[in-house]
Amino acid sequence: MKLAVVGAGIVGLTTGAGFAELGHQVECYDIDAGKIGLLTAGAVPYHEPGLQSLVERNVAAGRLRFGLAPEQLTSQAEVIFLAVGTPSADDGHMQLAPLWAAADKLTAWPGGGRRIVVVKSTVPVGTADRLEARLRSRLPADCEVHVASIPEFMREGGAVRDFFEPARIVIGTNDPETFERLDLLHRRLPAPILGTDRRTAELSKLAANAHLAVRLSFANEMAALAEQTGADYPAIARVLGMDPRIGPHFLGAGLGFGGSCLPKDARALVRLADEAGAPQTLVAAAIRANVMLPLRMVRKLEAALSGPSRRRVALLGLTFKPGTDDMREAPSIRLATELLRRHPGIVLTAYDPAAGEHAKRALPNAVQLCDSAEAALRGADAAILVTEWPEFRKIQAEDFKNWMKRPILLDGRNALDAETLNAQGVVCIGVGRLPAT
Ligand code: UGA
Repeated sequence: MKLAVVGAGIVGLTTGAGFAELGHQVECYDIDAGKIGLLTAGAVPYHEPGLQSLVERNVAAGRLRFGLAPEQLTSQAEVIFLAVGTPSADDGHMQLAPLWAAADKLTAWPGGGRRIVVVKSTVPVGTADRLEARLRSRLPADCEVHVASIPEFMREGGAVRDFFEPARIVIGTNDPETFERLDLLHRRLPAPILGTDRRTAELSKLAANAHLAVRLSFANEMAALAEQTGADYPAIARVLGMDPRIGPHFLGAGLGFGGSCLPKDARALVRLADEAGAPQTLVAAAIRANVMLPLRMVRKLEAALSGPSRRRVALLGLTFKPGTDDMREAPSIRLATELLRRHPGIVLTAYDPAAGEHAKRALPNAVQLCDSAEAALRGADAAILVTEWPEFRKIQAEDFKNWMKRPILLDGRNALDAETLNAQGVVCIGVGRLPAT
């Protein structure tokens, strides 16, 4: 099939390159000239495992091309994916302006005929209906358009794997012929295909992310309760996870959820639900609980250091999770901001293996960015493990003791081997666990 993707973010690019790998002809568009310049020169501008080689292979095979704007859509693409961002506005609403702008550029296609526009972006319920009406009112009479919703469930850092091995594929359309074409397009992927109407598909995406958010806030509040009552949360998580009705995933307590999706989608769902008269009180509470977690960590540091002002504190990891360079809504931002606000004399050093320039832009200027864990830890009175990058697990107790002024570690993700470290003279305090005595 001939396909086009509008929006060369992680979702759009992975979708485009993935379908090219399956043998389709794909054009990928973005209004960001810098991004298209890099992609045309063969460089993928994201830290996403496997994506660079996937793109290279398919560009070389002539199945994947890049262009600047959808008005360049001169091909005969039968299916056009819209994968533009829908960031949060201040009031929690999703901003749909990028989606309308992209759609409005699809004003005609040469030769007219039937096309399918698929909304990949996460959007409020009813957006595909509005989009179809808008396109139909603007396209010439010889163009027949059908809009479908195929929500994306891929994770950053695992996008390529999630494309080729999705847990499920949801195709939301009200038109049987459109379903048939999209079903055919996705059939080679090893996953059940669920056909729904468009609104159900749109809400299922928001529901999935909101469910994950609620689950994580439950885990974090339970971990806090374990701390207060002398119980061990990681052991509780194992007990919960072995119940097949609960399952083991997304029970990890820590500094909470960040990124460009979970917080934004949870907020958007709460707004949508309020407007629809079916308030999502659980999701609203999950958002509130999540925001408090960095503050809880600040209090832990205050207790561990008996007054962190004028002390040197190292942050290990900055991105919202390991395996990505993404700093959007990363808990490290709130943590650093709160530490500096409450303790103006504090010296904050930080190291992240991937965040690079993104960290510089996202964090307060006072944070000293270092180019290794050792450099961040040297002379520190305490360290907080913020993001569980695997390399932090390789640091030995002796290193912590040699490098730091005082080897006090607050492990914000329960990523380190606290028992071994404690036995070797490092104070390692996890989340939802009692400090070693
Ligand atoms: C999330 C969803 O998991 C994807 O299914 C969805 O497609 C995507 O949003 C999206 O809407 O585009 P992602 O934002 O990449 O994916 O991040 P997750 O892997 O879900 O992690 C979210 C946050 O939860 C991270 O900050 C992570 O550190 C945190 N987390 C995760 C925990 O605190 N504990 C856990 O046990 C798991």
